[in-house]
Amino acid sequence: MPQHHEPPAPSLDHDEPADDARRSLMQQAACVAGAWAASGLLPTVAGEVRQSHPRSLLVDANGQPISAKALRPGETLLFNYPFAASPVFLIAMDGEVRDVELLTEAKQRYAAPGGAGPKRNLVAFSAICAHKLMYPTPALSFIGVRKGIGNEPAQVIHCCGDNSRYDPARGAAVMSGPAPQPLAAVLLEWDAQRDQLHAVGTRGGEKFGEFFEKYAFKLEMEMGRRARETAGATCVTRPASAYSRQWQSCPA
Ligand code: FES
Repeated sequence: MPQHHEPPAPSLDHDEPADDARRSLMQQAACVAGAWAASGLLPTVAGEVRQSHPRSLLVDANGQPISAKALRPGETLLFNYPFAASPVFLIAMDGEVRDVELLTEAKQRYAAPGGAGPKRNLVAFSAICAHKLMYPTPALSFIGVRKGIGNEPAQVIHCCGDNSRYDPARGAAVMSGPAPQPLAAVLLEWDAQRDQLHAVGTRGGEKFGEFFEKYAFKLEMEMGRRARETAGATCVTRPASAYSRQWQSCPA
């Protein structure tokens, strides 16, 4: 797997006018794209690399923006993005996370983003398993963040359904099990001045279409039409323990 130079961490200086901030981000994106092109790794299908979704501020249950600096290594939060019914893991890793090139199930290359935040250790991934689409519900979750074993990273994402294990330190790449592709990455932006986090899109192979098809009746019963609504200006984050009443334990 080719190695990459770390791209600039996405952050916004809100002293700047919004246009300047946007321009700055576009320049960063251009730099990243340039680096990819220079390394011969420019994705073949641009539309598969970064999906456009709403820009949502991550807040706590009281509506207050969560502090990136306050997240402790090993801490996991969940929020729903980019749809009201699609859960996402936000994980504070032990150390800095670098971007990495990965492949979707359809063999399309994309750049899984490195970590956001002051330590560049904050990563987010769709919590919908890429195998048979198990996901955390308010009642029960078969997929969750667990301690790594042996030579694995400190945290892994494990789906008890069929024991797929994903590496959140490498773009949620599949370490073992039948999952055919990494979990889709959720792009985070860190506003360094305000210490706030935004979810701004996804990269990699999304499973939302299959998810809504498979669970159409269940989601309709639980949430009505709201399930397919896109995320709003804010997304409420909750500790994993508060998101699902029961977290299924499963052997590694
Ligand atoms: S549903 Fe997750 S491994 Fe099969």
